Amino acid sequence: MGKGVSFLVLLVVSYGVTVTMGFREEKEWEREGGHRHRHGQKESFLLPDSKPVMSSDAGEMRVVQSVSSRIIEKPLHIGFITMEPNTLFIPQYLDSTLILFVRTGEARVGCISKDEMVERRLKIGDLFMIPAGSTFYILNPGEGQRLHMICSIDPSDSLQLATFQSFFIGGGIYPQSVLAGFGPETLSTALNVSETNLTKLFSKQQEGPFVYLTKSHAPSIWAKFSQLEEKDRLNQLKRMIDHQEEEEEEEDQQQSASAWSWRKLLDSYVWGVEDISLKDRKPDSYNIYKSSPDFKNNYGWSIAVDKSHYKALKHSGIGIYLVNLTAGSMMAPHVNPRATEYGIVLRGTGRIQIVYPNGSLAMDAKVKQGDVFWVPRYFPFCQIASRTGPFEFFGFTTSSHKNRPQFLAGSNSLIHILNTPELAAAFGVSEETIERIINAQREAVILPSPAAAPPDEVEKKFEAVPKVIKSFGREMILGFD
Ligand SMILES: *[C@@H]1O[C@H](CO)[C@@H](O)[C@H](O)[C@H]1NC(C)=O
Ligand SMILES: *[C@@H]1O[C@H](CO)[C@@H](O)[C@H](O)[C@H]1NC(C)=O
Ligand SMILES: *[C@@H]1O[C@H](CO)[C@@H](O)[C@H](O)[C@H]1NC(C)=O
Ligand SMILES: *[C@@H]1O[C@H](CO)[C@@H](O)[C@H](O)[C@H]1NC(C)=O
Repeated sequence: MGKGVSFLVLLVVSYGVTVTMGFREEKEWEREGGHRHRHGQKESFLLPDSKPVMSSDAGEMRVVQSVSSRIIEKPLHIGFITMEPNTLFIPQYLDSTLILFVRTGEARVGCISKDEMVERRLKIGDLFMIPAGSTFYILNPGEGQRLHMICSIDPSDSLQLATFQSFFIGGGIYPQSVLAGFGPETLSTALNVSETNLTKLFSKQQEGPFVYLTKSHAPSIWAKFSQLEEKDRLNQLKRMIDHQEEEEEEEDQQQSASAWSWRKLLDSYVWGVEDISLKDRKPDSYNIYKSSPDFKNNYGWSIAVDKSHYKALKHSGIGIYLVNLTAGSMMAPHVNPRATEYGIVLRGTGRIQIVYPNGSLAMDAKVKQGDVFWVPRYFPFCQIASRTGPFEFFGFTTSSHKNRPQFLAGSNSLIHILNTPELAAAFGVSEETIERIINAQREAVILPSPAAAPPDEVEKKFEAVPKVIKSFGREMILGFD
């Protein structure tokens, strides 16, 4: 309690908010959309709640937008894609590079890579990169199984028109196909299909970017497309594409490749040819759950995936990590000297503490499943699992090189490497004192932390008012306990 009060006083002083106002303030913040950090003149390292960017009955994509801050060297948005069973996220390309992570379910991702159409079957834990400008589609073939994916959206190649921009290949009224932008004459000539028939093609799809593939639901564009055109008409179109490919093969490798890819796309989803031999070569996916932890002890484990594991990351300049802390454990205070880190809570609840370079507390926030936080390069921070259960978090680092976190506590920490006399002098204490202190912690990286872990009662209390936990102000409420 004593500790709680002094912490409270500190908070009152630093944030200029009175204790009695604490709780009411929380609710007002919530109503205003949770931008409490602006009010408190503090930068929050918790990103705002995700907002839907595309949605329909068949699926949804939500995005957490990166904050704009001078101290972010590479902003990343975080996307959450949910797809119902038997649905398709229609073919498109983006102005941003995606790295997909399959959280639950199974996906088939078709992607044009190095002028080849490849389709990957992705399972839980798989990582897959889709470069900016590369046409792709995502299919949830699972029967009765929803597909959940988390992705990083790297806007460094983006047009800056929006958070990111989709260019739909298939489409109609909603979303509109980019092909529809060409005049009817151009398109009619290009596809060798009458203008009337083209109008039919581009006026059907209005279910949004996620469509059902089953007949029990409203027929999808793909079903409509195949019904609309007669079989031999379609074959004609198919032959036309084939023909074009042959012709161009000698002249222009690039062009032919895109035609080839088109044929594959049309083959598999318009004509319903399932077993065409899609080349299952590059690009590879990488399963994060199948790799063995880089670090493991009784208190948890961590895995980092960099370009040495998954080559595609080399081009993206992004690394991936996964951490699982047992109930009440702590990732020792550490620093990322090379990268900004983005984290997404996959499971459980915990606490993230981030410290400013000047040694003052920048954030101490309680987080729950689905929350997204970021930690600037060089800023010391730690993550603590609550005592109720394991705390799993996953995320992206803005470097595909091996990220060597520097630990500030624990038996492998920086202070162990520094010479004792100098360290003692720096703290102004005796060498004996400093030795006692630095040798007291025998564990490294992931530490037991019964004292710092948020207790269970608070957990329950906050479940009743879930939004409240995302702030500094929350600590004031903790102080009342
Ligand atoms: C247009 O589609 C109809 C069938 O819906 C077909 O009979 C006709 O040949 C097509 N015309 C052209 C020029 O594509
Ligand atoms: C266009 O389609 C017609 C038949 O409808 C065919 O005779 C013609 O060869 C096709 N043109 C091309 C360039 O494929
Ligand atoms: C994380 O650890 C807990 C035990 O602390 C375990 O039950 C859970 O399955 C682990 N998660 C993963 C993804 O391995
Ligand atoms: C430390 O730095 C932060 C961010 O620059 C600033 O807001 C805060 O007031 C500083 N604290 C102290 C004690 O200087």
